[in-house]
Amino acid sequence: MTQHLATTDRPADAPADAARRADWWRDAVIYQVYPRSFADANGDGMGDLPGIRSRLPYLRDLGVDAVWLSPFYASPQADAGYDVADYRAVDPMFGTLADADHLIADAHDLGLRIIVDLVPNHSSDQHEWFQQALREGPASPLRERYHFRPGKGDSGEVPPNDWESVFGGPAWTRTENPDGTPGDWYLHLFAPEQPDFNWEHPAVREEFHAILRFWLDRGVDGFRIDVAHGLVKAAGLPDLGAHDPMKLLGTGATPCFDQDGVHEIYRTWRTILDEYPGQRIGVAEAWTPTARRTADYVRPDELHQAFNFQYLASSWQAGALRQVIDESLEAMRPVGAPTTWVLSNHDVTRHATRFANEPGLGTQIRLAGDRELGLRRARAASLLMLALPGSAYVYQGEELGLPDVTDLPDEVRQDPSYFRAAGQDGFRDGCRVPIPWSGSEAPYGFGPEGGRSWLPQPAEWAHLSVEAQAGDPTSTLELYRAALAFRRAHPALGGADNLTWQDAPDGVLSFERTSPDGSVLRCTANITGHPVTVPSPGELALASEPLTQDGPHTVLPADTTAWWTTG
Ligand code: NOJ
Repeated sequence: MTQHLATTDRPADAPADAARRADWWRDAVIYQVYPRSFADANGDGMGDLPGIRSRLPYLRDLGVDAVWLSPFYASPQADAGYDVADYRAVDPMFGTLADADHLIADAHDLGLRIIVDLVPNHSSDQHEWFQQALREGPASPLRERYHFRPGKGDSGEVPPNDWESVFGGPAWTRTENPDGTPGDWYLHLFAPEQPDFNWEHPAVREEFHAILRFWLDRGVDGFRIDVAHGLVKAAGLPDLGAHDPMKLLGTGATPCFDQDGVHEIYRTWRTILDEYPGQRIGVAEAWTPTARRTADYVRPDELHQAFNFQYLASSWQAGALRQVIDESLEAMRPVGAPTTWVLSNHDVTRHATRFANEPGLGTQIRLAGDRELGLRRARAASLLMLALPGSAYVYQGEELGLPDVTDLPDEVRQDPSYFRAAGQDGFRDGCRVPIPWSGSEAPYGFGPEGGRSWLPQPAEWAHLSVEAQAGDPTSTLELYRAALAFRRAHPALGGADNLTWQDAPDGVLSFERTSPDGSVLRCTANITGHPVTVPSPGELALASEPLTQDGPHTVLPADTTAWWTTG
C-alpha cells in the first residue's frame, strides 16, 4: 500500500504556526462545517455549536487551517438558516452567543481560524424590519429597505416583472394590506420567506457594516458572503425576457446578478476588515458566468477569495479539468488573488456521487451511480485538488468519502427548492445528512446513543464513520490526513501560484510545483478508466490507490492520482 508517507505525522504545534502565518489565507485549507449536521451535543437530532466545539480537535488533527460555519443565526429555518431573522443572535437550536464565543476561543487555541457565513442579499421574512414594513402598510418607510412594488394588470394581480426565484416559481410574492386587501409585491430571488434587501438604501449598508463589526469584535477571522453577486440589481428591475430557468449556477449575465455596482460594497467592507488585526478575510459566493468575472470580486481592494464554481462544476475528464485549471489561474493572476478549489458543498451533490455517474448531469443529481467508481474518482480528485496552487475547500464528510444519500423519502426532505421545483431539482438534502462519527447504529455518534438525526443516515454509513476509518491506511480519512500533513510540510505546495504542466499520455494530467528553495512536487492524475504507465519522476509521496513499480516506471491504475517529490 503506497498511500502513506513518512511525513504524515505533523509536529504538534504546526496548526498554531500556520495560523500565525502572514497571508495565511492564500494557501489555506478551509473546512466547511454545516452546523445542522456536524455534531449534536444536546441530543435533539440537530447539530449545534457545543457539538462542533467538541469536535474541533478532530479538525485540528485532520490538518485544516480554518473552519467555515454555515449560518447558525436566529432563523425560522425556511432555508436551513440562510433566512436570518436576527444577524446578531444564535438560534436556540444551535446554542447561545456564549457558545459561539467559546467556539471561536477554542478554535483559536487549537490554531484554527473561524469564518462565519454572512447572508446580506436577503433576510428572513420574520426579520424585524420586514415584519414592521408589512404591519405599517404601503406607506411604511421600512419598505424601501426591501424591494416592494405594485403589481401590473388591472388590479395589480401580475408580478412587477418576470423574474423567477432560483428555487423555482416567481421571484415575487404579493402582500396583504393591513386592511386585508391585496397589496404590493416583494422580491425574493430565493424562497418567499427570504425577501431581498434593497442595497441602494443607506440603512441597509450601515446595518451590515455594524453586523460585520459585531462578529469581528467577537474574533471571527472572516466571512463567507452568501449570494455575493446578488446584492445590487439592474436599475429599474428590467424584465429578463427569454432565458433559461434560473439556477444557482447561472451561466449568463442577468439583471438580477453580478451587476457592477456590487463592487463598491465590497470595497467598503475591505476597509472594515483591514481595520482589524490578523488578516480577516471575505470570501465571495459569487456564481458568475466566467472566472474572469469572478476575479473582479477579489481585486486588491475588495474581497480575498471567491469560490471557484467553474472547477466544482467540471466533469472528471482530463481536457475539461486542465482547461478550468488554466482558466482559473489565468483569471486570478492580474488581480493577484489566490485561486480557490472546491469539489463539494452543502448545495451540490457530493463529488463521490457526481463522479459515480456519467458526466453532464450537472450538480443536482439523485442517482447513486457506481459507488465504487465514484469513491475511487473522488479520492483521485481530492489529491489532484490539494496539489493545486491556492486555497482549497473541504466540505464536511468528503474526507470520509461520503456519497450523497440519493433515496431520502419526500417526508424527511427539508430543502425548499425541492418542494418549489416540484421535486425536479433541489436535491440538496442528500449532501446534508449528518456525519457518522462512531458506532454501528444511527446516529453513529452524531448525537447521543439512541438519539436521532434530522435526516436519516443510511445503514452502510457504519463502515464510513470516523471511528471505522481512523488508523486504516487504506481509508479515505487517512488519505486526507496524509495529504493535508504533506501539503503543510512541503514548501512546493504553499503560497505561489506556479504550476508547470508536464508531458503526459492522453487522459492523464501531470504538473509540477516548485518551491522557492527548489524542491519540487510532481502530481500526476490518471483520469482514464485504464492503467497507464509513466516514468517514475522521483520518490513517491502519496497515492490515492496502491501503485506498482515497473523498473523505472510506475503503473498508475485507472482513476488514480499520485504525488512524488523530485529534485
Ligand atoms: C447560497 C447558499 O449556499 C444556499 O444554501 C442558499 O439556499 C442560498 N444561497 C440562498 O441564501
